[in-house]
Amino acid sequence: MEYGKLLSWKQEDNRFMIQFEEQQVILSVITPDIINFFVPCWDKEHYSKAIEGDKSQPCTVEASLENGQFRLSTDKLTVIIGDEFMTDVYDADGTLLLSDYRQGRTVKKTVSKQILDILQAEGHDISNLLRNDYKVLTVKALGKTECFYGLGDKTGFLNKRNYEYENWNSDIPQAHNEDYHALYKSIPFLICHREESTYGLFFDNTFHSYIDLGKENPEYFYYAADDGNLDYYFLGGSSMAEVIGNYTYLTGTTPLPQLWTLGYHQCRWGYECAEDIREVATMYRQLQIPCESVQYDIDYMDHFKVFTWNEEKYEKPGKLFAELGESGFKPVVIIDPGTKVEPGYSMYDEGMEHGYFAQDVNGETYVNEVWPGDAVYPDFGRQEVRDWWGEHHRFLTELGVRGIWNDMNEPASFRGELPKDVVFHDGERTTNHAEMHNVYGHYMSKATFDGLKKLTGKRPFVITRACYAGTQKYSSVWTGDNQSLWSHLQMLIPQLCNLGMSGFSLAGTDIGGFGADTTPELLTRWIEAAVFSPFFRNHSAKGARRQEPWQFGDEVVDIYRKYVELRYRFLPYIYDLFYQGEQNGLPVMRPLVLHYENDPKTYNLNSEFLVGENILVAPVLEQGATARMVYLPEGTWYDYWTGERIEGGCNILRGAPIDVCPMYIRGGSVIPMYEPVQYVGEKPYRKLMLLTTPMGGEWVHFHDNGEDYAYRQGAYTLYRFTVDADGTLTTTLMHDDYETYDQIEVVMIGK
Ligand code: NOJ
Repeated sequence: MEYGKLLSWKQEDNRFMIQFEEQQVILSVITPDIINFFVPCWDKEHYSKAIEGDKSQPCTVEASLENGQFRLSTDKLTVIIGDEFMTDVYDADGTLLLSDYRQGRTVKKTVSKQILDILQAEGHDISNLLRNDYKVLTVKALGKTECFYGLGDKTGFLNKRNYEYENWNSDIPQAHNEDYHALYKSIPFLICHREESTYGLFFDNTFHSYIDLGKENPEYFYYAADDGNLDYYFLGGSSMAEVIGNYTYLTGTTPLPQLWTLGYHQCRWGYECAEDIREVATMYRQLQIPCESVQYDIDYMDHFKVFTWNEEKYEKPGKLFAELGESGFKPVVIIDPGTKVEPGYSMYDEGMEHGYFAQDVNGETYVNEVWPGDAVYPDFGRQEVRDWWGEHHRFLTELGVRGIWNDMNEPASFRGELPKDVVFHDGERTTNHAEMHNVYGHYMSKATFDGLKKLTGKRPFVITRACYAGTQKYSSVWTGDNQSLWSHLQMLIPQLCNLGMSGFSLAGTDIGGFGADTTPELLTRWIEAAVFSPFFRNHSAKGARRQEPWQFGDEVVDIYRKYVELRYRFLPYIYDLFYQGEQNGLPVMRPLVLHYENDPKTYNLNSEFLVGENILVAPVLEQGATARMVYLPEGTWYDYWTGERIEGGCNILRGAPIDVCPMYIRGGSVIPMYEPVQYVGEKPYRKLMLLTTPMGGEWVHFHDNGEDYAYRQGAYTLYRFTVDADGTLTTTLMHDDYETYDQIEVVMIGK
């Protein structure tokens, strides 16, 4: 991208237009901590799909042009821009945070056609050897100690430095290894961290994009895209938490979910008939393992036609829901976007009549193939298509459905990827698949969210596989088709922590692994590691070994029950974290670096995580291991199981026989807990326990009906609990417009 000499600048409100010889660049000051850099090389509009509404706040800005350099300062940041749009960003103390790399990219040597042909014939991936000439590009200097976090669901490790990634939502059935550039989600948000500073970058462009974090050259990192504008936000903040707060201020926070959705869920692709579901549900109750839903995969549909019911195998619609509802099971069903081509099928007929499906460049409805065979794709970028789709959920909600699981919405297509020129819309604007691919799942989730909200008045429970930055406002996510591999158990921690730091607090992996065959040991270690996964579901694939805990004998069942019960004990703590997260954007599951950002030992810690600030979990992630090393950061920690007090800032060796997942409580914590139940709603929560340490502490606890939006009108109770070192409790009711507990009991750890 050529800019040339910086010529002049002018201001319009919070926007600063900087004229270069070849190009105009616009800086918009959104808040003192957030500045947008916009190069309209494609269109003069932003067309953001991630950010709803105008987020700019009035703030003081000083701008000037001195010695050919444009200088802009807010209370928090200073930006200096020179010729060729070379940009540096400083914090208020004058520390250089981000700097354009002056020397440009050292582009890979061209590989001869002959070599490329050989590589391709052998099945090697040559895509990165072909990409040297991006339409959109910005190259930034890379600090020696810089670490990178965020980027959503990317595979590999917590710290993304030295790897390259792509943003192009991809349905990957093969084992998700650390060399995959893209999975199902595109969240082009990076947290860039050095010991002395932190900042964030959000690249708001939905076209296929590329992020190289020092792989090509250790001197720089770059962002590039095939098309669209260069449209990025610099996000300041005095801590990682503030950077995440700023990012979620822009793109939205994860809303408070319904309480029951945080319980345990079971699923399998291949519960062939109603009897299968009935048996699984019955076993959970018989074995007294708490469970909220046995989810309905595509097997329940009539020939995989969305919004239909297979009465032959799944009995009369609603019958099973009502029956299992009596023992507390809430129905959650899958809905895919691919709509079967079948004249006479109402979804197809209606969509065709109104022109709701994407079309090819000749104006014909575009057809590809998914589960139902030939299928067409709703054009979810249009409001009227979303309204139509949302309204069709009435069929399910009237039967009693409580949650919708959106799958295959990258969108998946069995006859090759949709061509880039397939016509889609962004609102009224006609555009194409190249621009809308990465937001297909985003807009499908929005359609589902809006539909459920309107139809039920409850907080919608939506689960999606594909999404873009900002989808967290509408949906929870799971990480798609993982496999029953120890490496995938290990990946759970970095993947969910990075999703959390990218705004997606309500995220989970398929417990036990979706594809391949799990083992008793792997499933056991998975339920232990996942016990605090915000979205908590065991799911497996047709053809793989069945994965309900009782398939593996009594020992597995007993340990499984112990951990699912543990989850139910900690439900009020998890729910409180969601309540806080709706306001501050912080996730439930957090890497240690988020709270110990000055401690380099946490920067690459892939095998432990925090739940909020107060629980540290260090699961066993290796086959055969019965002990593990645990890093405890500075401060005092208490072993959850033994009550032993340990001073942090060191590694310890913890024995971990098959039924033990090492967990530590931070000294000074107060953690609200309930007695376990078989399902949320089994009986009212009348008693709250406060797990505390001999150091006392404080906690603010939120309590409401756990289902609808009444809390936004004030129908909730907010407690402040202060516990002394000797266990004396002081309770302050900060807000009192819902039930109060009958009993509050302090439980001192180790006693
Ligand atoms: C792919 C999804 O990732 C998986 O979870 C689901 O079971 C299958 N589609 C079948 O619906």
